[in-house]
Amino acid sequence: MNINKKITMSNVSVTAEVQSVKIQIEKALENSLPNENTWPVKLHKAQRHALLSPGKRFRPLLCYFVASGLGKEDEAVILVGCVAEMVHAASLILDDLPCMDDADMRRNQPSTHIAFDESTAILSATALLNQAFSVISKLNKVSDSAKVMLVDLLSHTVGSNGLIAGQMADLSNNSSATTLKDVEDLNTLKTGALFDFSIESAAILANASEAKKKHLKEFSRYLGLAFQLMDDVKDKLMTQELAEKSINKDIGKATILAIKGSRASMEILNNYLKKSKESLKMADLSNLNTFDVLFESQFSFLKILPKN
Ligand code: IPE
Ligand code: IPE
Ligand code: MG
Ligand code: MG
Ligand code: MG
Repeated sequence: MNINKKITMSNVSVTAEVQSVKIQIEKALENSLPNENTWPVKLHKAQRHALLSPGKRFRPLLCYFVASGLGKEDEAVILVGCVAEMVHAASLILDDLPCMDDADMRRNQPSTHIAFDESTAILSATALLNQAFSVISKLNKVSDSAKVMLVDLLSHTVGSNGLIAGQMADLSNNSSATTLKDVEDLNTLKTGALFDFSIESAAILANASEAKKKHLKEFSRYLGLAFQLMDDVKDKLMTQELAEKSINKDIGKATILAIKGSRASMEILNNYLKKSKESLKMADLSNLNTFDVLFESQFSFLKILPKN
């Protein structure tokens, strides 16, 4: 893999490196699915619509740069990041359905059930999820024991004690008795689980020490919490054009914003980010400045928000 290994890099060259990795991720995603002329054509078109539409690719980027900071840069790291992106795309297809958030717009395009139909959307999400496991099983130059660990981690991540549990809890999260801790537990499942997979899988591939894995777990926990709270801020305070997806979908939900209000939520969010960065530092990766650039690109819009 053609990656610059300079010990210190300016933000400009880090940004260029992030862009180059993103291009590799896009290519790998493109190659991971049957082409759209493959029967059943509609199903494959729907899968490609959901997976290849212009997302931020934050989970595969996290996987790549955690592994890179631990000394591992190869095709397997890109592919395992794509696995996280496939599960993410599947979760978004289902999340947008009328029986869930009923959202018509995703990544500036019609959601999959709008562009196709509900049955095709459900089947394409199921197929993407299935394909994710297949990508792990076919990884080259990864030991069988590491593959088993990855499959086990992914099934837990998605399963009824992970992302799916979080989505279940989210659907009934409309009680005035919901506490901050309840929402944190929910967000840790519905969004944090896949961040955990993206980061822990990188640690598995790089054969990281248990001590590093522990710090990376904390990094992931606070990053997932920050990311979902930022997403809730988008839903409430951004326009659809800026958010590039349907907004005002959290009305009636007991989000942190709804419970604590905008000003306190911003403090909570900044605190999550602070703790996340502290844990990352403790993990002692060799590319901490890359994470500054990644964080900046994901969280910079918060700077332009009103204070309350
Ligand atoms: C949206 O995720 C859903 C959440 C878990 C918050 P992203 O904000 O990463 O969405 P894309 O992938 O860039 O579209
Ligand atoms: C979704 O959370 C998390 C998933 C597991 C899909 P949201 O419902 O807030 O995500 P958006 O706002 O639709 O992207
Ligand atoms: Mg939702
Ligand atoms: Mg939603
Ligand atoms: Mg949201």
